[in-house]
Amino acid sequence: MPHTIVSKEQLSGDVFTAEVLAPLIAQTRKPGQFVIISLNNEYAERIPLTIADADPDRGTIRLIWQRVGKTTAEMADLKEGDEIANVAGPLGRPTHIEKFGLVVCVGGGIGNAPLLPIAKALKEAGNKVASIVGARNKDLLILEKEFARISDELIVTTDDGSHGRKALVTEPLKELCGREAKPAQAFVIGPPIMMKFCCDVTRQFGVPTQVSLNTIMVDGTGMCGGCRIEFDGKPKFVCVDGPEFDGHKVNFDLMMKRLNAYKDLEQAAHEEYKKHKCRIGLDK
Ligand code: FAD
Ligand code: FES
Ligand code: MG
Repeated sequence: MPHTIVSKEQLSGDVFTAEVLAPLIAQTRKPGQFVIISLNNEYAERIPLTIADADPDRGTIRLIWQRVGKTTAEMADLKEGDEIANVAGPLGRPTHIEKFGLVVCVGGGIGNAPLLPIAKALKEAGNKVASIVGARNKDLLILEKEFARISDELIVTTDDGSHGRKALVTEPLKELCGREAKPAQAFVIGPPIMMKFCCDVTRQFGVPTQVSLNTIMVDGTGMCGGCRIEFDGKPKFVCVDGPEFDGHKVNFDLMMKRLNAYKDLEQAAHEEYKKHKCRIGLDK
C-alpha cells in the first residue's frame, strides 16, 4: 500500500502538515497514538510522529512536524503525490479519556499538535477544557484557531511576547491551579524541560498530570531499548508503556540526557543533507 501524500501545507517557518494515505491506521487510531515512518527503503532512519488527526472515510492520517534535523527536513521537501515508504502504527497506548470535570491542556511548540486530538476527545467526553498553548515566538505557534474552537478557556503565550501573553506556559498554569475550582487533571505536551517545570507546578497544587514523552525511538515495539526512561525509579519503554505517563513520576533529567546522546551525529547528518539536498553524488 503506497503511503501517498495527498495534501501538504506549511503552517509556519519550520512547521509542516500533511495528509498521508494510511487507511488501516486511519480507521483504528485513537488520540495519543503515533506512527513510526521511514522515508525510503534503503537508508532512511525511522522517526516517530503523532497522529494529529485522521479521516477514516478518506483513509488518511494527518501528521504535523517541525523541521529540526535531517529526516524532518527531508519530509519538508516532499511534495503532494510523493510517497512515504513505510508508516507503521498505530503505536503506543491511547490516552485515557473520561469525564474528569475541569481539565487543563498545556501545549508547547510542536507539542500542540499531539495535544489537539486529546483536548478534542476530552471536550467530546463532556469535560470543561481550559487550554494553554505556548511557543517561543509567534512564528512557532500553531493550531491556535483549532484550540479556540474546542476550548472553554484559551490562554496563548509566547516567550518573547510577539503574540498573546508574554510568559512561559507555567505562569498561567500556576494561576489556573491556584483558583478555588482547580483543574481535576492536567495534560501537558511539549519540550521535556517545559513538561518538567509544568509538573513541578501541578505537583505543588496536587493536580494529577499526564505528559506525553518524546524519547528517541527506533523499533517502536519494546525491543531496542532506545526509548527507555526511569519512571517511579523503574525502567519503562515509552513506545509500549507510553507515550503517556504520570508526569510526577518521570525522571526528566535522565530523559533529557539520553535525548542529547547523538546530537553531534544528528547535526552532521543534517549539514550533509543540506549540502547534498540536490542529491548529486548520493543517488545511484
Ligand atoms: P535529528 O537532528 O536527527 O534529531 C533532532 C532531535 O530529535 C534529537 O536530538 C532527538 O532529541 C530527537 N530525535 C532524533 N531521532 C529521533 C528518533 N528516532 N525518535 C525520536 N526522537 C528523535 N515531532 C514532531 O515534529 N511532530 C510530532 O507529531 C512528533 N511526535 C512524536 C511522537 C513521539 C511518540 C515521539 C517519541 C517523538 C515525536 N516527535 C514529533 C519528535 C520527532 O520524532 C523528532 O523531532 C524527529 O525524530 C527528529 O528527526 P530529525 O532527523 O529531523 O532530527
Ligand atoms: Fe525501541 Fe521503544 S523504540 S524499545
Ligand atoms: Mg535524525
